Amino acid sequence: MTPQGKPLMDVLEGRIPRRRPIWLMRQAGRYLPEYRKVRAEAGSFLDLCYSPEKAAEVTLQPLRRYDLDAAILFADILLLPQALGCELSFRENEGPHLSTIRDLKAVAGLDKAGFLKRLTPVFETVERVKTALPSEVSLIGFCGAPWTVASYMIEGGGSDERLLSRAAAYRSEAWFTSLMDLLVETSIAYLASQVRAGAEAVQIFDSWAGDLAASQWDSVVIAPMRRIVEGLRQEVGPVPVIGFARGLGAGHIRIARETGVNAVGCEQGIAASFMTEKLVPHCAVQGNLDPLALVLGGDVLDREVRALTSSIPPHSHIFNLGHGIRQETDPENVSRLVAAVRASDRI
Ligand code: CP3
Repeated sequence: MTPQGKPLMDVLEGRIPRRRPIWLMRQAGRYLPEYRKVRAEAGSFLDLCYSPEKAAEVTLQPLRRYDLDAAILFADILLLPQALGCELSFRENEGPHLSTIRDLKAVAGLDKAGFLKRLTPVFETVERVKTALPSEVSLIGFCGAPWTVASYMIEGGGSDERLLSRAAAYRSEAWFTSLMDLLVETSIAYLASQVRAGAEAVQIFDSWAGDLAASQWDSVVIAPMRRIVEGLRQEVGPVPVIGFARGLGAGHIRIARETGVNAVGCEQGIAASFMTEKLVPHCAVQGNLDPLALVLGGDVLDREVRALTSSIPPHSHIFNLGHGIRQETDPENVSRLVAAVRASDRI
């Protein structure tokens, strides 16, 4: 046991932590009034992402309010396609819009040579956060997984069913395969630069993995994630990786066994017993409080926290939500959540 160790790094690297680590997806965001203030000053969400000073500030905001064990870089998974040359905009209450990639010519037109340079402000944000972070708090970098990022590029933004993307995957269209390969390769370089700038662990967000048929998991989810994990470690050494293939259900076993990740992120539909019996033998688990329980607060929140902490041992668990914090969440409920996690581990 290393009493001075960082709890998140201890769990990811298989040591006994001094306490159960907790951080929350979207912990920096619109539920915080101080975020809304900086966001308004920045002008737009993308201006905020590309201002290292402001992005570092909002990354640190939740750490000032709450006793969390990690900061997550403030950026977005869609900055990579933008750096590759896709047009990206966020319209108020509409979510992201992108120019579309639907054939070989469009894939060939993506700028593999120049994309990393355009992401320099992101690496500068990492450096700034790293310098300012308390010594026991870990810094997490991230990227979107190829399937999730490709689906935004193919659909031109968010979409209810991602039918074009799923059809391209089923047909193994040459342009689709080549887009996925390009995203694997550029994600490795993107994550490696984040690690070199100071990120201590990274998370790969496959937010739409749950759309796929199980027969597609191999080529569209598992292999790309494994290639990113291996490629990243070839570039920067044995950095811990959290794989979050949201909605994969029983398929999380395959993430745990076959991709080389140190922890598997789980959505709220995964039972704690499944996590401890099927996943913990292979790696740590992260999750999976329902974001709605955090909105509701009170007894519901306390009960759901206890259910998780009493089922999953602290040395194998990174407490988190099953998906990002919802905008309507009362910031007070996050204080209550952190207190409940700490209290349940003292009993
Ligand atoms: O605190 C953190 O978690 C770090 C920052 C972060 C953001 N997006 C900030 C953000 C991270 C890790 C992401 C990842 C991301 N972005 C994902 C994967 C995780 C998930 O939620 O499934 C996805 C799918 C995206 C794409 C994206 N970005 C969408 C669909 C939207 C619009 C939805 C919305 O909430 O408006 C965004 C915008 C976005 N990314 C916001 C934030 C704080 C809200 C922008 C604002 O301030 O208006």
